[in-house]
Amino acid sequence: MLSILAGEANRPLAAALAVQLETDLAERTIERFPDGEIHVAVKSGIRGHDVHIVQPLCPPVDAHLVETMMLADASHRAGAAHITAVLPYYGYARQDRRSAPGEPVGARVVADLLAAVHVDSVLVVDPHTRALEAMLSVPLEPISAIPLLAATLRPELPDDAVVVAPDLGAVKRAERFAGLLDLPMAFVRKTRLSGDTVRAEGVVGDVAGRVPVIVDDMITTGGTIVSATQVLLDAGARAPVTVAATHGLLVGDALEALGQLPLQRIHLTDSVPPPDSGALPLVTTSLGELLADAIRRLRRGTGLGQLGGYG
Ligand code: R5P
Repeated sequence: MLSILAGEANRPLAAALAVQLETDLAERTIERFPDGEIHVAVKSGIRGHDVHIVQPLCPPVDAHLVETMMLADASHRAGAAHITAVLPYYGYARQDRRSAPGEPVGARVVADLLAAVHVDSVLVVDPHTRALEAMLSVPLEPISAIPLLAATLRPELPDDAVVVAPDLGAVKRAERFAGLLDLPMAFVRKTRLSGDTVRAEGVVGDVAGRVPVIVDDMITTGGTIVSATQVLLDAGARAPVTVAATHGLLVGDALEALGQLPLQRIHLTDSVPPPDSGALPLVTTSLGELLADAIRRLRRGTGLGQLGGYG
């Protein structure tokens, strides 16, 4: 028996998933005690069930992580047969190595915490790092929204578009995207100076006279997209620019920063709750069907097939 348990981070996505799977969301309460502690209670009977906890680890990341852990522990103690953490967005994934002495490996800490609360497997959409698999002591099922985004963009792209990876880490993802749309590819050389500052140093590939489609796993502050757009236009690419990213965190002044760009459209998924776009030309594609397909396949034991991948 399947149970879908929603955290607070993205209940609409969990509800869309439940509809696709022809079930109701399991009943639960989530509240804060007066001292700030998170308190959860699973009200539906889930003994012997295949429980899927749906929760992107988006801001406030730490609260959503603790909530996920509380729901997993509650499910375990209530007799769940198998617990899958469905994390449409895996927070802390960018802390996948120590970049200076004295730092932790944040992505590994999250992996250990999930295993500690009896999570049996983890489903993640376009995880930032392939290293995640080695960090988790339980199976990782990575699925990719890249084919979904490519299919959504296909009708609106001109023949002379060029797919652009805004940094080296995004090259494989952009290659897959370009392959699906039969378009050429270029990439931007980027250096990250701090959490909210990046410097784009140039473009590798032929973008002159072409319309860029920048493809990334996530937009956080928007700094990467802003600096990539600048170097692309400097290199002779043609505005307006299209952007596609799986996770639209859009924190701080991201909307304002992106609003200054000559944008055709920004395509995101609902892995995290879509922001109020204001005047931004933002299109959100739901992951509900993709997640449902993935869960059905995994429950049938057929593997993820074409749905799998890291972007
Ligand atoms: C970095 O490696 C990621 O793939 C994204 O490019 C980055 O996290 C985006 O962050 P921001 O929008 O703050 O530049």
